[in-house]
Amino acid sequence: MRTFALSLLATVLMAQETQAPKPIKLPAHKGGSLTLDKALEERQSTRNLTGPALSLDTLSQLLWSAQGENRPGKRTVPSANARYPLELYVVATKSDALADGVYKYSPKDHSMLKVKDGNPETIFGSIKGMQPWIPKCPAVFIFSGVSSRMGGNDPQRKEAYTFWESGAAVQALLLQVTANGLGATVVSGVDLDAVKSAAGLLDDEKISVIVPVGRIAK
Ligand SMILES: Cc1cc2nc3c(=O)[nH]c(=O)nc-3n(C[C@H](O)[C@H](O)[C@H](O)COP(=O)(O)O)c2cc1C
Repeated sequence: MRTFALSLLATVLMAQETQAPKPIKLPAHKGGSLTLDKALEERQSTRNLTGPALSLDTLSQLLWSAQGENRPGKRTVPSANARYPLELYVVATKSDALADGVYKYSPKDHSMLKVKDGNPETIFGSIKGMQPWIPKCPAVFIFSGVSSRMGGNDPQRKEAYTFWESGAAVQALLLQVTANGLGATVVSGVDLDAVKSAAGLLDDEKISVIVPVGRIAK
């Protein structure tokens, strides 16, 4: 009986191991087609957003712009004392290359790891008082931060620096969204604690904003 129980346990553990999601290596980011001036001229909030799902190439461009490494160990966006308190997620709709899911970006190896099942419709559509256009978007980026990673003893300063960095990362994302001919809007007027719970973020993370992204509907 004991041998049977042990072999059953081993089978269950092996099955869990084979099912654990593997990081998805993203394609190298490519140069955009707009000049910086043009992207700054054209950036504006757009809420009338639609599919199709973002391709891996587009996700690569957007994630890299917001938090990617542009030289070893350092990122596109500045960080006080290079502490890097931000975590970046994208809730994506399935495409040929990707399953529905909540994905966490890893700047170090430019990959993303699925941390939870779901898509914008199921994750955001389930939250009370959600702005109705958000669950219809093909991808929603979540900017969260772990302010305890910042140096010093002043909690307010740590929060402020983390929030500041989030703003810089969001603008980098928005300019790349524009350069890719897509639309987006920064959103904080929703229940961000409910978003944190629905998307399965870790306890020590605090969401600053979410950014729905998609094609601009005609
Ligand atoms: C921190 C922040 C929070 C925002 N929250 C929302 C929001 O909850 N819903 C929304 O539709 N737009 C939101 N916006 C977008 C603003 O309404 C928008 O940026 C503003 O009207 C200026 O328009 P523009 O972005 O087209 O220049 C937010 C913008 C910022 C910076």
